[in-house]
Amino acid sequence: MLFDLQTAIEKADNLPTFSMAGRKALAMLSEENVNLDELAMIIRSDQALTSKILRAVNSPAFGLYREIKLVDEALRYLGLVETKKLVFVATTHFLFGGTQDIETWRHAILTGYIAETLAEKIEPKINTSDAYLIGLMHDIGKTFIEKVVPIVYRQVLPSLTEELGRLDAELSLFGIDHTEIGAQMLQFWNFDKHLCDAIAYHHSAVFAFSDPMGHLAWVANQVAHLADGRASDEAKITEKTFSFLNLKEIADLEKIRSESLKKVDDFQKKLEALL
Ligand SMILES: [Fe+2]
Ligand SMILES: [Fe+2]
Repeated sequence: MLFDLQTAIEKADNLPTFSMAGRKALAMLSEENVNLDELAMIIRSDQALTSKILRAVNSPAFGLYREIKLVDEALRYLGLVETKKLVFVATTHFLFGGTQDIETWRHAILTGYIAETLAEKIEPKINTSDAYLIGLMHDIGKTFIEKVVPIVYRQVLPSLTEELGRLDAELSLFGIDHTEIGAQMLQFWNFDKHLCDAIAYHHSAVFAFSDPMGHLAWVANQVAHLADGRASDEAKITEKTFSFLNLKEIADLEKIRSESLKKVDDFQKKLEALL
């Protein structure tokens, strides 16, 4: 092992911090009935979050005729579905290093949309907000590695990945891989255990299958990579996954992926103001 990332994670100052309002807002989005007035109150308590939401809603992508100056009004205009997406991204995008790594960020959002769509098909249902959040955060461990050892991340890891596969390359360099790093980060931020486990399992089909949320994280990531051949898992999507998702064939998953990609393109235009 060349770099001890476990110790780096334990030194909390290496971890980006969530604002209190950001964490509260995220927790609220998972509730059964989201109260937009309460959510607006939380957002208003955080200046950075407030200005992000207002900048986004007043951006040309929304085509408003007049400026919206109040968070309450912005949330009412957006409606619950759009508000949720915007708040998810506004509260977490600092984790992705702003605009430096658009591809990683796009992959995160795509996996979020896919996980959300798949969550509606599963019996018993998984909370769609939790599903979106898991998709968005599943590779957060990668951004930690990039932040702590940027040169190794960009110059050494890719070639070792060719040779060993992504997870083994990370293990041999850092003694820990991005799934475990991500899980520990979520634990540090006090996310529920089932969300932390799902992140830990997103490349381990065997473990993931024992936990619906883990299975969802695993399959959403696999589907996000369907067309680009970069899914790093040996395991293919099996009958077990199809029955879990109440789907019949791979074409269903391809359709979900392409519809989600369209949503990402549309959403990215609206997000430009956040960058
Ligand atoms: Fe991953
Ligand atoms: Fe991924």
